[in-house]
Amino acid sequence: MIKVFSTTPRIVMGPGAAKTIGEEVKSRGVRKALIVTDKGCIAAGLVSTIEQSLKASGIRYGIFDGVEPDPRYEIVADCVNMVRAEKARMLIGVGGGSPMDITKTAAVMAVNKPPVGQYFGINLIPKPGLPAILIPTTAGTGSEVTPIAILSDEGEKLKKGIVSPYLYPALGIVDPELTLGLPPHVTAATGMDALIHGIEAYTSINATGITDMFCERAIRLIYNNIRTAFAKGDDIQARTAMMEGALLAGIGFANAGVTAVHAFAYPIGAEFHIPHGVANTLMLPHVIRYNVLGNLDKFAKLAEPFGIPTGRLDQLQIVDRVIQAIDRLADDLRVPRHLKDFGVKDKDIDMLADGVMKVTRLLANNPRTLYLQDAKQIYRAAL
Ligand SMILES: [Fe+2]
Repeated sequence: MIKVFSTTPRIVMGPGAAKTIGEEVKSRGVRKALIVTDKGCIAAGLVSTIEQSLKASGIRYGIFDGVEPDPRYEIVADCVNMVRAEKARMLIGVGGGSPMDITKTAAVMAVNKPPVGQYFGINLIPKPGLPAILIPTTAGTGSEVTPIAILSDEGEKLKKGIVSPYLYPALGIVDPELTLGLPPHVTAATGMDALIHGIEAYTSINATGITDMFCERAIRLIYNNIRTAFAKGDDIQARTAMMEGALLAGIGFANAGVTAVHAFAYPIGAEFHIPHGVANTLMLPHVIRYNVLGNLDKFAKLAEPFGIPTGRLDQLQIVDRVIQAIDRLADDLRVPRHLKDFGVKDKDIDMLADGVMKVTRLLANNPRTLYLQDAKQIYRAAL
């Protein structure tokens, strides 16, 4: 079968990498850029590091700080207006998944005809956009290496994806120093999201030898460092390992896709505003229990990066240990484990299950075919 592998063409990584932004922009002949971020990143002082470097290289810039969590797609138009007003020739996204996804989408919408809503789906964007540079401030989304942007449609109460090779940034700058101040609950939720990217891409029906290579290292790095990063936020070694893990998991899922855990997380994220990483973590053990039969071999192989001794156990017994390890990890990281903690009730399940069945883009990658009845059972198990 013919497979395609692609990723961001240039990645600058390591402690202090963010300070290279000025020279990176200058080397591309750009004199005016727009930083796209949110107010949290500005308050945390993360944007000032970027600003100092741009100033030192003589780059002029504007700042769009109107990105909100789970951003509505309408924000893209606000951002494009500012690109035009500032006459910016490049966008620099600084933040977690939300600012980076708005940056990628605004960069292409600065060139393509509105409205953005017509481009939800796969390969629907006609033309490449302005160049974008993405600088993640969490070890989570991997957006700096994916051709995907996730935006909220408030009208339909759904999170929708735009997938296009034109969403790849020109450059990703991956600097673990930007994550040193993340509070433990954010480290936990975003880190679990990254771990789940690795697990889902590894067990996707579209996994290849190349994506497995990225996912295996991603899972190992994240699983073995996330507790330290959670407990000792200033541990630069753990933060560096988490940042690399999230990057590699992003490369894996950009090419192999994520599966039903993310599909289940979208309706509860959109409807009950459960943070993406928490929604994924909450669904993970229940979806794995369902998916195991679709790819027993791969789920059992997770024992290796998890460091689980397998001895004389058969594959089903090994998978039970893997699920136990995931439960233990989520407990250690104090991620909420029940939908009812967020106000979800039994009467909501039919509507949520209908929502999952609409996420066909991800269910197409799932190792086991999902039916509506199963979707209801899986949500009920997570209540
Ligand atoms: Fe995710």
